[in-house]
Amino acid sequence: MASTQCVVVLFLITFTSTAFPRSILETSPKTHHSFTFNPISIRRKIPNDGDAFYCDSWRLSDGNAFYCESWRLSVETDNAGSWTQIPASCLDFVEEYATGDHYSSDLEVFAENALEFAKEVNVSSIHGKDAWVFDIDETLLSNVGYYEFYGFGYYDVDALNEWVESAVDPALPASLELYKELQNMGFKLILLTGRSESLRNATEKNLLQAGYSNWETLILR
Ligand SMILES: *[C@@H]1O[C@H](CO)[C@@H](O)[C@H](O)[C@H]1NC(C)=O
Ligand SMILES: *[C@@H]1O[C@H](CO)[C@@H](O)[C@H](O)[C@H]1NC(C)=O
Repeated sequence: MASTQCVVVLFLITFTSTAFPRSILETSPKTHHSFTFNPISIRRKIPNDGDAFYCDSWRLSDGNAFYCESWRLSVETDNAGSWTQIPASCLDFVEEYATGDHYSSDLEVFAENALEFAKEVNVSSIHGKDAWVFDIDETLLSNVGYYEFYGFGYYDVDALNEWVESAVDPALPASLELYKELQNMGFKLILLTGRSESLRNATEKNLLQAGYSNWETLILR
């Protein structure tokens, strides 16, 4: 690392990384018998009229959506502070956001912005900034299956760890694409996660299965 000229660029997905953990309304989980879920919903193609999603922050249609979008913005800007529950009236909004096309559209836009930035960096210059830091959950890998499994109304750290152990999270497609592009550009990719060290093997396994490889280092808590 000593030779690595680096100041780090954080690629953060603010809404999902702050809104999902520790914040889902705690209600009883739906009864299921095993961790089986279908990740297809988050791999759905973004439709060609993607501009509608792009502009969505500026325009909303129905009444409750205004409230939920305001709440979302408040979380993103950290104005909501250490809140613990998604408003019950917004559970559907969160589900719709995460499993519909909106989340993947947001990710596409973030990845595009990040790539534009990356192109401005001269990685091969002796003064180049050649390290790039990625978070993992809701940045490289999607835990949406976990939240879907619990009906978007339940968060429990033990259950989430158990989920992570099963190493079934799919890649977020836009992030995987960005990851590979950055790698081709010569960036050294550093993965920094709040996951515990005890989840290293499961995390590595999941990352590899999802298509990520050749990271410089993986730092767990
Ligand atoms: C990038 O840096 C290298 C080494 O300093 C230099 O030779 C090259 O011209 C630079 N490229 C650009 C596009 O500035
Ligand atoms: C991780 O895997 C290595 C071998 O691949 C093994 O030696 C080690 O005990 C495993 N760690 C945990 C926490 O399971």
